[in-house]
Amino acid sequence: MASSLFARASRPAAQCLRQRPLRCIPILSQQRCISAYGYEQAKALILSDYGDPSSVLSLHSHSISPPHGDLMTLRFIASPINPADINQIQGVYPSKPTFTTSLGTAKPIAVAGNEGVAKIINLGDKAKKEGFQKGDWVIMTGPGFGTWRTHASATPSQVFKLDESMREGISPVQAGTVSINPCTAYQMLKGFASLQKGDWFIQNGANSGVGRAAIQLGSEWGYKSINIIREREDKASEEKLKERLKEMGADVVITDAELQSQGIKDQAKEWTNGGRDPIRLALNCVNGKAATAMAKLLDSNAHFVTYGAMSKQPLTIPASMLIFKDIHFHGFWVSRWGQSHPQDKKSAVAEVLEMVRRGKFWDGPADTIQWGRETKGEELIAKVKDTLEGYREGKGVFVFGET
Ligand SMILES: NC(=O)c1ccc[n+]([C@@H]2O[C@H](COP(=O)([O-])OP(=O)(O)OC[C@H]3O[C@@H](n4cnc5c(N)ncnc54)[C@H](OP(=O)(O)O)[C@@H]3O)[C@@H](O)[C@H]2O)c1
Repeated sequence: MASSLFARASRPAAQCLRQRPLRCIPILSQQRCISAYGYEQAKALILSDYGDPSSVLSLHSHSISPPHGDLMTLRFIASPINPADINQIQGVYPSKPTFTTSLGTAKPIAVAGNEGVAKIINLGDKAKKEGFQKGDWVIMTGPGFGTWRTHASATPSQVFKLDESMREGISPVQAGTVSINPCTAYQMLKGFASLQKGDWFIQNGANSGVGRAAIQLGSEWGYKSINIIREREDKASEEKLKERLKEMGADVVITDAELQSQGIKDQAKEWTNGGRDPIRLALNCVNGKAATAMAKLLDSNAHFVTYGAMSKQPLTIPASMLIFKDIHFHGFWVSRWGQSHPQDKKSAVAEVLEMVRRGKFWDGPADTIQWGRETKGEELIAKVKDTLEGYREGKGVFVFGET
């Protein structure tokens, strides 16, 4: 983020705030704490060095002065914890956050988090002229904004407004999680294989946010899907998960162990009308042996799109897949696509939100993490750490209360 954005949230402002009385005013069901001079009190999960989230993150308080010109003050409503956020904190993600001293720290810091929805609570005249107003909900146009915070300063180019029609009937968690995972699934399904109604695709990581989005979008568009999940020791919960994904529109759900078992090719033929209906697209966010096994089920000339690396294993491709089957291997990164195709991304967001409204797209389950005025940094950081471990019921999403 441009450092100028932070200029009015600088140390002098924070110092001023300490001397100025705070007053809390009720706004609808919430209270906003502002200083007598309109400075917003803000808190952010920040890092000054890359590393393990539990050791590098801390909660930082600062203030934001009243906006003018094209500046807008945002109050966050919901911000998810995505795997990419963790990779970014660890310093292993290609898109880096901006480190700055403008939030009143001695060392340069960055605010964690890339996705979220915020409400405009104050704005300068230039921002108004660009069509924004108080109360608008906005999502971020690109990565690196720093969304794990109660408030932020932003310019119009950094955000994309959810018009009234897009926002209607949409919850904060739905709006705060629409721009990355559903858009990734949307474009991978649309952008590579020109699937037609009745065509098959196969994917691993089927229980991830992207995977669930692909199941639902695919089902809505008439595509059939084979979905691979991680095997669970608890077979009852594995069955429950399979059923849940089928309720969302998955045609077939198998575990990674079942995918690698003997006879899987014959099984796949059974699912696909004796092999007459080709599997033309694979979506891979896992890699390792299970991804290679998935590629073996593809038809000639199919497309195999890699968008994640959850197993931390490399992707190994037998030469025969390239030579004899001419399978096309691609990578996809929603940040790059969103920046080069902003209108297409807006359309994807609008289409997904419309599906949500019609009850055709279910974004959950979400593990909501309340972030209120009294919430301690340790509690928030512990929740971030939780997302790194074990089998999770749902994505962690910070939901901001009174802050
Ligand atoms: N390239 C892009 O533009 C883009 C955009 C969005 C996301 N992504 C990537 O997509 C992937 C999923 O993201 P998300 O936000 O949808 O995830 P998410 O909802 O947080 O879920 C994570 C998923 O990863 C699975 N998983 C965790 N560790 C694994 C392992 N060792 N082996 C296999 N699977 C494992 C989990 O399986 P269980 O269900 O068994 O727990 C879960 O389904 C991540 O790699 C993320 O970086 C990429």
